[in-house]
Amino acid sequence: MSEQGIRPAASGDTGLAGFYNDKVVRQFTIASIFWGIVGMAVGALIAAQLYWPALNFDTAWLSFGRLRPIHTNGVIFAFGGSALFATSLYIVQRTCHVRLMSDKLAAFVFWGWQLCLVLAVVTLAGGMTQGKEYAEMEWPVDLLITIVWVAYAVLFFGTIAKRKVKHIYVANWFFAAYIVTIALLHIVNNLAIPVSLTKSYSIYTGAVDAMAQWWYGHNAVGFMLTTSYLGMMYYFVPKQAGRPIYSYRLSIVHFWALISVYMWAGPHHLHYTALPDWVQSVGMVFSIVLLAPSWGGAINGIMTLSGVWHKLRTDPILKFLIVALSFYMIATFEGPLLSIKTVNSLSHYTDWTVGHVHAGALGWVAMITIGSLYSMYPRTLGLQGMFSTRLIDLHFWMHTIGVVFYICAMWIAGVTQGLMWRATNADGTLTYAFVEALNATYPYYLGRLAGGLLVLAGMFVMAWNFWRTWELGREAAPMPVLAPEAAAARA
Ligand code: HEM
Ligand code: HEM
Repeated sequence: MSEQGIRPAASGDTGLAGFYNDKVVRQFTIASIFWGIVGMAVGALIAAQLYWPALNFDTAWLSFGRLRPIHTNGVIFAFGGSALFATSLYIVQRTCHVRLMSDKLAAFVFWGWQLCLVLAVVTLAGGMTQGKEYAEMEWPVDLLITIVWVAYAVLFFGTIAKRKVKHIYVANWFFAAYIVTIALLHIVNNLAIPVSLTKSYSIYTGAVDAMAQWWYGHNAVGFMLTTSYLGMMYYFVPKQAGRPIYSYRLSIVHFWALISVYMWAGPHHLHYTALPDWVQSVGMVFSIVLLAPSWGGAINGIMTLSGVWHKLRTDPILKFLIVALSFYMIATFEGPLLSIKTVNSLSHYTDWTVGHVHAGALGWVAMITIGSLYSMYPRTLGLQGMFSTRLIDLHFWMHTIGVVFYICAMWIAGVTQGLMWRATNADGTLTYAFVEALNATYPYYLGRLAGGLLVLAGMFVMAWNFWRTWELGREAAPMPVLAPEAAAARA
């Protein structure tokens, strides 16, 4: 096993361990890996249930309907959310040259968020739900989420306010947009009238309720699953490549274009519904426009490697980051395609959507997260690298092959379903019964399960590598505590 250099670094951001609050960063990192394993294990279980329905063991809390939201909330808010807290709090300190504004507030945000997550799992398993996708939690949990999120916002913006450098690095712009927008989306979409501790009714009705939900749902994708991770990308890709970002000007254009276009694309989730036709068309047009800033940003990240492409051969962390950007390009090409009404009439309700989701979620979100955590975690321990580079490489291949299996299986299954459902005979009757289309998709469900299990196994490899790195960090000599100015002078 090739052990990467584990000596304490002499300068750079590792040399400042102790000056920054890295405890909360490490806590959120470990939480992210833990929830990643839980969320993906539940994903693998529901993937298996779609092939072997008996796997719900006739038990209510093991049924697909209850486990599915545990999977989606688990991977989006617990795995991804914890990683976003970890990286945003790490980056804001490094780029502002100050410690977080309050250690107590940081601890409150960590434990508060973990409490929200545990409550979410317990209530969803108990069948308590608002029935709104990605916003299933009932009102008491929603209130707690709001309190913790506001505390996070105060912590993040408070740290920016006391920064020692005038300039606000672009990664922080992306994090700022995601923090503000998620607060807005969460509050507006969850406005409800409680009738008991565990049940409430949305204040919106009919088509307005659907519109509010998918304004939320799409922007949850746009800000919780995209803008925020671009913040990670803008810090860790240059850091890992050892190069400045390809174009700082492009990153500013990218930022403003992305946040002003995303807000209007939500109706593409409601094509051919009771929503006014012109609203659906607005959603479609804005979705197509979204291709430009998405690809512009991805190209900005990838081109950062100009002159150091050879590093991709030896650095598996860079491979995670750059392949993540490639999946981002795939998902943001596919998204505008799916938003075209005629294409959506084929894809909607089929597994094509699920394939698109996981190209984004497993390819982009999970890979940029995993790469960033590998890059960041040793630095918080004063180490130069993870315990084992070979294990990172192994994880990279397990994850990449797993994702390719997953999304190819779903693309084929989805297009097959769409074509079989719409096939008609000369006399206008349906060519296939629903169950025939279901039978045709079964082999692909097995393919998805295989891919998912490979991804999940990779997460265990990651956990082991983190455990060993933590042990190395404990053994290493404690780092000198230097103020950023002193460290900069020394470097
Ligand atoms: C081991 C890895 C994973 C497996 C096996 C897996 C499996 C599944 C399955 C079986 C479904 C239900 C599909 C259906 O209802 O037909 C699903 C839905 C979903 N998963 Fe995953 N998943 C994994 C990882 C992830 C990750 C990392 C994310 C996000 C970061 C994610 C986000 C989602 C979302 C958003 C949905 C809902 C899709 C929709 O409504 O169209 N999954 N997943
Ligand atoms: C240019 C960017 C994108 C556009 C225009 C777009 C568009 C779309 C469209 C048209 C659908 C299908 C709606 C339906 O038929 O129900 C969809 C579903 C979805 N997309 Fe995207 N997409 C984009 C990028 C992404 C990315 C990067 C991710 C993940 C990180 C993502 C996650 C999702 C999810 C979770 C759903 C399923 C929602 C649900 O029905 O539960 N999308 N997207």
